[in-house]
Amino acid sequence: MGVFDSGVGGLSIAKCIAEQLPHENIIYVADSLHAPYGEKSVDFIIKRVNTIAKHLMAKGVKALVIACNTATVNAIEQLRAQVSIPIIGVEPAIKPAAKQSISKKIAILTTQATSENQRFKDLIDLHHNGAQVLIQPCPGLVEFIEQGKHHSPACNALLRQYIEPLVNQEIDTLVLGCTHYPFVQQQISTIAGKHISIIETAAPVTLQLAKKLAEMNLTACHTQQGKTQFFSSLVNKQQEKIFSQLWQASLTLHTLDHN
Ligand code: DGL
Repeated sequence: MGVFDSGVGGLSIAKCIAEQLPHENIIYVADSLHAPYGEKSVDFIIKRVNTIAKHLMAKGVKALVIACNTATVNAIEQLRAQVSIPIIGVEPAIKPAAKQSISKKIAILTTQATSENQRFKDLIDLHHNGAQVLIQPCPGLVEFIEQGKHHSPACNALLRQYIEPLVNQEIDTLVLGCTHYPFVQQQISTIAGKHISIIETAAPVTLQLAKKLAEMNLTACHTQQGKTQFFSSLVNKQQEKIFSQLWQASLTLHTLDHN
């Protein structure tokens, strides 16, 4: 299957898929040359999503996972209209967060583009379950993670700037609405404190994917050991190092044919 994101964020989803569905082959594509999508126009995001989907379809993938909230809310509908294989998107886990919130005050960390998107706003209207939902766009955060600088004091300061006001407003649940953010979950958790629970989407997306594959008789044969290949629109030694660190294993990064 093809799994893609604007950059390294979708590795948080791909890792869960590789662990939970070990017989599946994965082609991971990062559009790092054009990251972050969160600061780009809707037209630009749609164009990139279509280019990458075309690339993955040419490689014969049986399903596509848009491992990016920003690309999902902006481009999944138009992609589904063009493509006949199953497409699984990633959207912020508002429903489970609102359901479990006792204070009935939750917050979502997102990219700028997601925070402005109508599909995202509709999702909140549909699933808030009476909870107040605070939306916190986090410009600059994806860049730190893309550059492998997410453990730096500067990144920590940025996280504090975004999270402390939410803590002061007494939220009890925080949704990670961008697939890059699980890579700073430890820092987020330290700033937020033990009483705030943090929700991300890798496990439910993997479950949804497994269900879809089973429904369509596309599940890989259990005798095969799945492999993961990695492609990016920006390949160099530094990128390969960042990918390997986040994947927690040494890997080879290949160049995406059609940038
Ligand atoms: N990882 C992506 C998301 O889930 C996009 C981040 C970006 O490129 O701005 O929204």
